[in-house]
Amino acid sequence: MPLKLITNFVSSFLKRNETDNSTKETISASGSLKSSSLASISFSPTITIQGLWSKKDDQNDMTVVKTTVENERWVAHQEQLIHWQNQPPIFDPYPALGIQDYDLLETLGTGTFGRVWLSKQRKTKQYFAIKVLKKADIVKLKQVEHINSERHVLSQINFPFIVQLYCTFQDHENLFMLQEYVIGGELFRHLRKSGRFPNDTARFYAAEIVLALEYLHSKDIIYRDLKPENILLDHRGYIKITDFGFAKKVLDRTWTLCGTPEYLAPEIIQSKGHSKSVDWWSLGILIFEMMAGYPPFYDDNHFGIYERILGGKVQYPSYFENSGKDLLKKLLVIDRTKRLGNMKGGAQDVKKHKWFRNTDWHALLNKTVRAPIIPAHSNDYDTSNFEKYPDEAKNKQPEGDPFRDLFADF
Ligand SMILES: Nc1ncnc2c1ncn2[C@@H]1O[C@H](COP(=O)(O)OP(=O)(O)O)[C@@H](O)[C@H]1O
Ligand SMILES: [Mg+2]
Repeated sequence: MPLKLITNFVSSFLKRNETDNSTKETISASGSLKSSSLASISFSPTITIQGLWSKKDDQNDMTVVKTTVENERWVAHQEQLIHWQNQPPIFDPYPALGIQDYDLLETLGTGTFGRVWLSKQRKTKQYFAIKVLKKADIVKLKQVEHINSERHVLSQINFPFIVQLYCTFQDHENLFMLQEYVIGGELFRHLRKSGRFPNDTARFYAAEIVLALEYLHSKDIIYRDLKPENILLDHRGYIKITDFGFAKKVLDRTWTLCGTPEYLAPEIIQSKGHSKSVDWWSLGILIFEMMAGYPPFYDDNHFGIYERILGGKVQYPSYFENSGKDLLKKLLVIDRTKRLGNMKGGAQDVKKHKWFRNTDWHALLNKTVRAPIIPAHSNDYDTSNFEKYPDEAKNKQPEGDPFRDLFADF
């Protein structure tokens, strides 16, 4: 990484830390800058290695050859995937409770349209995370479709590595999304604390994300906002992907420019129309950022970032393991028809890559492998893994509800 880039990155690194508590950047459909949760844009133990994969793989061929036992495990894993793909959603479309039944205790995160609160249900004393979104802001920033899509997509999902949305409701001013409280905080914070992750740690999180993407794509859902800020750790250190603000059910292609600058796939920048391929690109960016501590395409302005992405030149640090580098070279491919994950074999091509040779996919999805970071917490309402946020200025409640029709499903 040239010196200027390092300097820029260091300053952005500090900014990213600072902005955790305040504003983070987003670009809207009209292309204007606005504040949000870390630079999103929107236009319109380590896996226990049990030798399940063969070690005698050829250096030139990064696809793993499997033994009989491994094949049996693989078949069991395929059945496990089908099981999860067929699980009915837990989401309740007609909840009996409303916001009056919860106490909002503390802010866990802030975003473009409001805050996520640690909340306690008054009767059962159970803890939840409630995402509160201001209707007027959503309308002003032309994000009505995205928010309705966030609800729609999350309401259909039931998967171990994706945050559970239980129900939604609304009042005159706000929309509310009642979610499970994921106590371990953002992967972003753990990554910045560590500087960078060891190879095995990065692989543990990457493998869970691969499973989550495989699940989402099997339902024709693209996620489009993969980044360490949107990945939370649960109390045992497994990931939960949150923030489905840009997720969408797409059968063919979609054209909306949205995502986070450093994580945007070339086809999004080029407005070529995009689909599932963009998630495999951003997986490559994420793995790089986890292993290096900084993203592969970085500049102090968005345009510079886009130029670097389209230029496609990646400087791999010398400490990257060969097979990890090989995987990144196959994910960060500008031509999406040649990008791993987006070819005939789909997610299976990624899972069979040599970097994942010791990954026990079956055990991972069953959460029987030990996670590399077990988040500290002293009780089930502990918020020590989250940043502290200043109190929100209380606005006067608007009279009437001019936007109710726009959010009829909530
Ligand atoms: N279910 C949850 N449990 C704990 N914290 C959460 C949860 N959902 C979100 N957060 C926190 O709130 C932040 C903002 O939420 P997110 O859904 O990403 O909103 P935005 O769309 O504004 O980025 C997250 O980065 C995370 O720190
Ligand atoms: Mg977010």
